[in-house]
Amino acid sequence: MEVILRGVRGSIANPSSETLFYGGHTTCIEVRTNEGALILFDAGTGLFQMNNYLPVHKECHIFFTHAHADHIQGLCFFKPMHDPEWTVHLYASKAVQETLLGYLAGQLFPVPFQSFRGNIVWHVVEAGKMVQVTSVHGTPQQGVQVEPLAAHHPGGGFAYKVHGDEGVFFYSGDHEISPTPAARESAQALLRGVDLAVVDAMFGKEDYQPDWGHSMWEEWVASAEVAGVGCLVLSHHEPTRSDRVLDQLQHKLQRMEKPGGPKLLVAKEGDRFFPPQVPTFVAQPSDWLPLFLDSLSRYREESSILDRILAKSREVTGADAGTVFVAEGNELVFAYTHNDSLFSVDTAYKHAYSTLRIPLSMESIAGYTAITGTVLNLPDVRQLPKNVPYAFNNTFDNSTGYRTQSVLCVPFYHMGGEIAGVLQLINSHDSHTGKVCPFSPGSEQYVKLLAREARNILERGSLLRKHIYRMLHMAASHDPAETGPHAERVGAIAAELYQVWGNRQGISLDKIRYEKSCIRLAAMLHDVGKVGVSDLILKKPASLTDDEFTVMRRHTTMGAAILYPSGEDIADMAYEIALHHHQKWDGTGYAGGEGHGKLVGEAIPLPARITALSDVFDALVSPRCYKKAWPFDNAMNLIRDESGKHFDPALVDCMEEVYALLPMIYTRFPDS
Ligand code: C2E
Ligand code: SIN
Ligand code: SIN
Ligand code: FE
Ligand code: FE
Repeated sequence: MEVILRGVRGSIANPSSETLFYGGHTTCIEVRTNEGALILFDAGTGLFQMNNYLPVHKECHIFFTHAHADHIQGLCFFKPMHDPEWTVHLYASKAVQETLLGYLAGQLFPVPFQSFRGNIVWHVVEAGKMVQVTSVHGTPQQGVQVEPLAAHHPGGGFAYKVHGDEGVFFYSGDHEISPTPAARESAQALLRGVDLAVVDAMFGKEDYQPDWGHSMWEEWVASAEVAGVGCLVLSHHEPTRSDRVLDQLQHKLQRMEKPGGPKLLVAKEGDRFFPPQVPTFVAQPSDWLPLFLDSLSRYREESSILDRILAKSREVTGADAGTVFVAEGNELVFAYTHNDSLFSVDTAYKHAYSTLRIPLSMESIAGYTAITGTVLNLPDVRQLPKNVPYAFNNTFDNSTGYRTQSVLCVPFYHMGGEIAGVLQLINSHDSHTGKVCPFSPGSEQYVKLLAREARNILERGSLLRKHIYRMLHMAASHDPAETGPHAERVGAIAAELYQVWGNRQGISLDKIRYEKSCIRLAAMLHDVGKVGVSDLILKKPASLTDDEFTVMRRHTTMGAAILYPSGEDIADMAYEIALHHHQKWDGTGYAGGEGHGKLVGEAIPLPARITALSDVFDALVSPRCYKKAWPFDNAMNLIRDESGKHFDPALVDCMEEVYALLPMIYTRFPDS
């Protein structure tokens, strides 16, 4: 059994920027049984969202607690009510049925009830009289039992218990626990044996209105503790309660939790539960999101931004593994992957250059999410719902021995609304037992929120990459060797050299990550100054004369003139690299024309020393108009020979370690 909250407000819908996180829709709770039956409790405005999640078998069951407006307003706008292929079972007391028929009869909605085209079947419910809900169109299946219980509310009403195979779910509708011993005892009786309870906690001690038919949340907490409830979810929020106020309530609840006592949660639209499993609590975004965005905003380099988003998404969802797919044309490129079980942190980076691509189609989980924009939260990829177009691709599991179970797939978008890619998180872990579990309530929301809030930072990253490509394109129009792939490889090798160097120096991981992301972009621009060198020299298919080489050397100072320092980390680094990437460790290199500005040893800025090595390596192993491509080994031997002469010996040592990564880098960025 799966329980999803579609509406969590009481009285009146109040969607606004202040209620964005917990949601503004009025009451509607979705239950999906293991056999696939769709059961809904109440038809507040949250029911409207259900139009996006309709099962293919076209049958559902709606149970009403009572007929107050906030519990029925979505009904006329529920598509199955108007679809002749659908059967909608409505369960209510005689009195509620009459009210609903009145509501449906005319003046409040343009189409009278008799003209609704869905097959609507009424069922009268009575307190204590079990309702058996079988799955598809009465096909005899085991089904679940729904038990109507008398609620304490002006004008009466029901609460409901769903007795599923594995767990018991309780939904209170509106219910007032008056602060009297008798009322408390009856609340405890309602909650006994319940794994998950979603209750009306419209008030707190400070704003309690006696006899309005709603409870103080403190009363539910006390009753749930006595009754031994597994997880208590406070819902039917007073409409003006803002996200900030509800966050505070969640904090308070967290501090009140007792060992062995109920898990205490504030209901949030989209929350998803799998009773009897007790969900793990994930810190509220107000705790971590601003801090995270603040640290993320330092980054300008797209792939590092994605890498950080993936790392944070895994942290807040307890995922063991995750992948970022980036949408490129008709494909999803498997851009980054992290996996705690298979790779150590040291080797995970190898997968940054992975080249796996899957078609952008509905047949894969990630493709389905990208095309439809639907978040997929799959408890077990080996037991997918029937009639879905996507299937689990077990190639990765088969080749690695890893076992994928729960998957959460969330799309992310460009500012303009086009799809940018998909975050796929794998195998959430229960923090108590350490076992793999479905993604917990809220996880979905947290990742969605994170992807949305990080959108402008990502956008800036992809814009910067586009600018850099434009500059490279300009340089490439003079020198065909200075293409995107060449620049990408010089950038990638420089980034990896920096990482190894930083590790050996004992530099903090945080600083390494950041500097690495800067050098990756800055090194790509090392030769933009070639835009100012004549084509006759650049394209000469032979050795240069001394005069020609004097002109050629100026590509360094010309690059520096284009990339003047501006106080921005990447621009400043790009400036140093352009100016000094032909300096040599022994002081025999150059910047500018003949005899200008020679530097020696550590006086040469580190990013320039690093780029010198990665540039020469790539120039050697690539064909040029004036030379053939060398094999990797020969190039590496030249680098070794030049240790202490052309190159910083410490960096030549680091290159030995980066060497293992080179095939991946050259596969990821081939010359076109
Ligand atoms: P580039 O082609 O990107 O080469 C960058 C650096 O790689 C060169 O810097 C050099 O240090 C190293 N390199 C490239 N090919 C070889 C090689 O075959 N042997 C050795 N030992 N090292 C090599 P350098 O020499 O300062 O040249 C800077 C730029 O000047 C080159 O960038 C290229 O655009 C141009 N260039 C250099 N030599 C020639 C040449 O003989 N003919 C033409 N047409 N252009 C040249
Ligand atoms: C990469 O681009 O190498 C992965 C992201 C990073 O850690 O910089
Ligand atoms: C998919 O999304 O189905 C392809 C990748 C995977 O299964 O991990
Ligand atoms: Fe150069
Ligand atoms: Fe170059």
